[in-house]
Amino acid sequence: MRANPITGDFKVFEAIKERNSVRSYSSRPVEEAFYRELADYIQSVGYGPFGTKPRLKMLDLKPLDKKELKKLGTYGFIKGARLYILGAVKDRPGAMEDLGYCLENIILKATSLGLGTCWLGGSFKRAAFARQMDLQAGELLPAITPVGYPANEASPAERLARLTIKSRKRKPWSELFFGPDAKAPLDEEEAGPYHDPLEAVRLSPSASNRQPWRIVKDETDKFHLYLKESKIYNRILGRVRLQNIDMGIAMCHFAMVAREKDLPGRWEAEPGAPTLLGLQYIATWSG
Ligand SMILES: Cc1cc2nc3c(=O)[nH]c(=O)nc-3n(C[C@H](O)[C@H](O)[C@H](O)COP(=O)(O)O)c2cc1C
Repeated sequence: MRANPITGDFKVFEAIKERNSVRSYSSRPVEEAFYRELADYIQSVGYGPFGTKPRLKMLDLKPLDKKELKKLGTYGFIKGARLYILGAVKDRPGAMEDLGYCLENIILKATSLGLGTCWLGGSFKRAAFARQMDLQAGELLPAITPVGYPANEASPAERLARLTIKSRKRKPWSELFFGPDAKAPLDEEEAGPYHDPLEAVRLSPSASNRQPWRIVKDETDKFHLYLKESKIYNRILGRVRLQNIDMGIAMCHFAMVAREKDLPGRWEAEPGAPTLLGLQYIATWSG
C-alpha cells in the first residue's frame, strides 16, 4: 500500500468540531482568493490510504446555460449553491474509502475558510454531474459537495432533513470504540493520547448519519477499524458504496488529528487483524 499523505495547513480538530452539513447557501460568491486557495489545496491532495488518487474537479455553475443547469440538480435538497466539488474514482477495491479520505480533507479545508459543504452521495443527478466531470470508462462518481457561504437561515426542507436524520446526534463512545478483542467498551481515559483522534471519528459525517464505524484498540496500541454495514442500504447504489466512503472519512479524521497531535502512524490493511462477528474489517492504524 502507498503512503497516506495528509496535508493540513489549518486547525484540523477545530474544523472537525465546527463542520456540519449546509444545504442552504447565500448568494454571496466565494472570493477569488479563497477560491484559489481551495483550488490549490485540491491540487495538493494526493492518494488515499488504499492507493487510489481521486480525480477532483471544482465546478462553477454560473457560466452554464439554462438548459445545462436544468439537467444538474439535487432534488431540492441543496438551495442556492453555485460551486460544487466533484470526486471521481477508478472502480477498484479501496476506491470508496480513498474518495472519502481525500474529499473530507478538502471539506475540512473549506470549513476552515468559513465555507459550508454537504456530502451528497444519493441526492444529486449523478449522470448529469458525471457528464460535467467527463467521466471515463471504469470510473465512478460516488459523491459531490456544494461549497459556499451558508445562508442566514436554513430552508424548511433543510430543517426537515436535519430533524429526520437527527444530524447533530452521535452515538456514545461505548457503542463505537472497544478494548482488545472488542470484549469491553473503551473508556475515554483508556484512549490516552488517542482520545482526540477517536473523538474526531465520532464527530465524522456519515451517510444518513448511520455512524457505521467501529474501532478496536488492541494491547499493542494498534487501532483496528471495522464497518458495521447496513447491507441493503450500502448496496442499493451498486458499485457506489456510501458506507465505505464513511470509512474513508473516519480514517481521514483520525489521521489528520493524530498528525496535529504529533502522533506518528498510518493506516494499512493488516492480514492478522482480528475477525469480529458482524463487522467488516477495513484497516489498522499503527504508530
Ligand atoms: C457518504 C455520505 C453521503 C451523504 N449523502 C447525502 C445526500 O445525498 N443528501 C443529503 O442531504 N445529505 C447527505 N449526507 C449528509 C449526512 O446526512 C450528514 O453528514 C449526517 O446527517 C450528519 O450531519 P452533519 O454532516 O451535519 O454532521 C451524506 C453524508 C455522507 C458522509
